[in-house]
Amino acid sequence: MARITFYYRDVAASGGGLILGIETSCDETAAAVVRRGSEILSNAVASQIAVHTPYGGVVPELASREHLRNILPVVRTALEQAGATYSDIDAIAVTEGPGLAGALLVGIGFAKALALALGKPLIAVNHLEGHIHAVLLADAPDGPLPGQQSLALVVSGGHTHLYLAENRTAAASNDEAPSAGGASTAWTYRNIGRTVDDAAGEAFDKVAKLLGLGYPGGPWIDALAPHGNPEAVPFSFSQIKAKVHRRGDPRALDPTEETYFSFSGIKTAMLRYTKVYEMGPSVETRRAALAALDNPKPADALPLCDKRTLDLIASFQRSVIDDLRRKTFRAAERYNAERVIVSGGVAANRELRVRFTAEASERHLPIAFPSIALSTDNAAMIAAAAWPKFVAGTFAAEGLTAEPSLALGR
Ligand code: KG4
Ligand code: ZN
Repeated sequence: MARITFYYRDVAASGGGLILGIETSCDETAAAVVRRGSEILSNAVASQIAVHTPYGGVVPELASREHLRNILPVVRTALEQAGATYSDIDAIAVTEGPGLAGALLVGIGFAKALALALGKPLIAVNHLEGHIHAVLLADAPDGPLPGQQSLALVVSGGHTHLYLAENRTAAASNDEAPSAGGASTAWTYRNIGRTVDDAAGEAFDKVAKLLGLGYPGGPWIDALAPHGNPEAVPFSFSQIKAKVHRRGDPRALDPTEETYFSFSGIKTAMLRYTKVYEMGPSVETRRAALAALDNPKPADALPLCDKRTLDLIASFQRSVIDDLRRKTFRAAERYNAERVIVSGGVAANRELRVRFTAEASERHLPIAFPSIALSTDNAAMIAAAAWPKFVAGTFAAEGLTAEPSLALGR
């Protein structure tokens, strides 16, 4: 307890409150310096897109190797951009999970060594909580009030989850209480929805690959969809029937308890569609033409797509986004959420932002997204999520290790 109090006093006295965040859960090596959970001083990201592009997806072994190569230069860049030195940092925060085991271990090993060498506290952060805090960073001035329930959709390449998030802020009651932010903030989460198979971002990536587009697929589909008719191919999202009615089966889904997403069906429907309309040769022509370019961009794919392909892309995107939108707002209504937040890589999607914003305004619900840069994986969100833990003195145990399947909330 004495050690914890020292840190609070230190922060309050120095006006510091600088947290160095480190994120290596998937294919971005990222480090950032954030002051008091809200002011981003630097946000460095080394993308591995070029490494994984030839494979059309993340290769875990290559990801770990790249993290090892990049971690030190990325941390140095983050400190340099922040105008800070190691001694200015008050704590080091690192992603504990979920993610790829080998990739997580690189960040955790580095953060532990740094914390030990510098004698600074280490804070373990759940990657999903990081994504939620990416929105709170952008939303800071008029973000959720203490006690308000936010309905959070975390939608990325690895996740499609719905949470009820609540800021349980309480004023510090005595001198010994944590006081770095003037109050003790703690977030609680309740998981009320999830995908039963693929994540939405994974569906974007797999469909882009199927159509001979670049990796990761989300930005390609986002850029091409406005050129097609979103109502041309009416995909239907069938009800999730699997195991719903098997009583006593621990894996059974209980539709009264949770909202379920499923994106493997639309992927199969897309495959079937390309077969029925014999699109294979044109897909191969497009793939080869893009592979011949130095650094292909979605704009390069546009002249390589016929009307049927563009209509298919637009219809796919509309179906996925409308399914996310319907289920998110249905859950917001059911749980009386007072605001909606959407985060994760797919939250960068323009059509998603437009359609979610329109529905929120019809329902008079405030809605918030992270900036585009903070939608995809970054370390600023990890440092931001670590701040309430720093204030509360919740530090990582010495034995901290990677938790590839770490869940968030209850
Ligand atoms: O959050 P993120 O960087 O990593 C995970 O935690 O998974 O999300 C990456 C995912 C990829 O599937 C990528 O295709 C998708 O986010 N994504 C998008 C867009 N930008 C990235 N999906 C749709 N539209 C976008 N503009
Ligand atoms: Zn992520």
